[in-house]
Amino acid sequence: MSKKLLLKNAHIEGIRYYETYRKHGGYESAEKAFKMKPEEILEEVKISGLRGRGGAGFPTGLKWSFLAKPEGVPRHLVVNADESEPGTFKDRYLMEFLPHLLIEGMLISSFVLGSNVSYIYIRGEYSWIPDILEEAIEEAKAAGFLGKNILGSGFDCEIYVQRGGGAYICGEETALLESLEGKRGNPRLKPPFPAVKGLWERPTVVNNVESIAAVVPIIEISGAEYAKIGVGKSTGTKLISACGNINKPGVYEIDMTITVEEFIYSDEYCGGIPNGKKLKACIPGGSSVPIVPANLLLKTINGEPRYMNYESLADGGFATGTMMGSGGFIVLDEDQCVVNHTMTLARFYNHESCGQCTPCREGTGWMYKILKKIEKGEGKMEDIDLLWDIQRKIEGNTICPLGDAAAWPVAAAIRHFRDEFEWHVNNPELSQTQNYGIANY
Ligand code: NAI
Ligand code: SF4
Repeated sequence: MSKKLLLKNAHIEGIRYYETYRKHGGYESAEKAFKMKPEEILEEVKISGLRGRGGAGFPTGLKWSFLAKPEGVPRHLVVNADESEPGTFKDRYLMEFLPHLLIEGMLISSFVLGSNVSYIYIRGEYSWIPDILEEAIEEAKAAGFLGKNILGSGFDCEIYVQRGGGAYICGEETALLESLEGKRGNPRLKPPFPAVKGLWERPTVVNNVESIAAVVPIIEISGAEYAKIGVGKSTGTKLISACGNINKPGVYEIDMTITVEEFIYSDEYCGGIPNGKKLKACIPGGSSVPIVPANLLLKTINGEPRYMNYESLADGGFATGTMMGSGGFIVLDEDQCVVNHTMTLARFYNHESCGQCTPCREGTGWMYKILKKIEKGEGKMEDIDLLWDIQRKIEGNTICPLGDAAAWPVAAAIRHFRDEFEWHVNNPELSQTQNYGIANY
């Protein structure tokens, strides 16, 4: 059984409220942290090996150490709660059921970074959660964990919740900052990174909800103990939101030592695939990461079991591996049609492109149109090559990673499931009434 750090108290009734949270050890990490110097806390986070849980896996301690500290310029912590990656809903769970864990993590992190005003930017569709967060903020303030001179330290901290308008692109950190400043959420060119020029051109750290929540157990058990959980550079625990063709969809906390097979089939996690169907493929890190067929999902190219961690999932590069990403684990059984699935994703990315860069603005639309044609049985063999060509021209040629995120699913689908694309071209009539999966199994 995986060790629980973030969700260990999630089952306790009323844990959403300050009193219950406090009774079960809440804010003890903050009390411990406020007896330390900010540099000592930063060192603990570095030692823990914590990697950003939003998708990129960038070392959190290193990111914090990049924060510029010009004299007299305010600095900010911004929590990215714009969780919009299809298949990803783990931050929603944390904010809905454990809001004080996030507030406590933010308090400690704000103390380290010297942020007197910190923000939570939350996706518009999570319409009921800002009230939960604001209530928790008020409770923390009333208990002296936010506001002026926290725990007699002389450190002041306020947290504000800002609702987004429901645009996927505002999860990209610089688009998020633009939106937080009241402008259209267009990504900025990097560098400069937010750590140097962020919110209102001030040094800013943007971290995912889960990354900030993880600071609480790190201070509780120490960075060194946290680093002992997991394996290699995949330290600590990771929340996985599992969905698709599985018996038990939900949010699971894993310690990154379990195999993908165990995660899908064990009763402790996904509980297998409904109706005894066979596993076809999986997208383990949210819709932007490459789809992997079952044979490469359960084992690497060398025949080793594939594990639920950053390194093992990526083993073999994009040709045979994938990415941990945001931990949005989407399972497809044998009845699913990869062409249909890829088309749905292409429509999403086309709709969500901000339109600043030509390869993304035009390319996502072309990919969607071609995929729609193929899926409807109106495509030609050359269209598959054209699709491949377009995704190659998008990848790496755009301002932000949305371009790559739109290109990778198409590339992986063609690489691993070209036969399904060809089936649609060769069976125009069948394509209109049946999907590939149902017609072929
Ligand atoms: P990135 O790799 O460009 O950056 C990671 C972080 O490190 C950023 O905060 C960046 O500012 C910081 N950083 C990197 N180099 C730095 C330097 N030299 N100096 C200062 N700071 C530096 O990745 P990005 O664009 O932040 O995230 C992309 C990921 O987001 C993808 O892997 C995707 O899986 C994930 N994603 C997650 C979503 C969700 O709903 N959770 C939605 C869409 C994408
Ligand atoms: Fe906008 Fe797409 Fe360019 Fe990102 S890659 S800045 S979403 S057009």
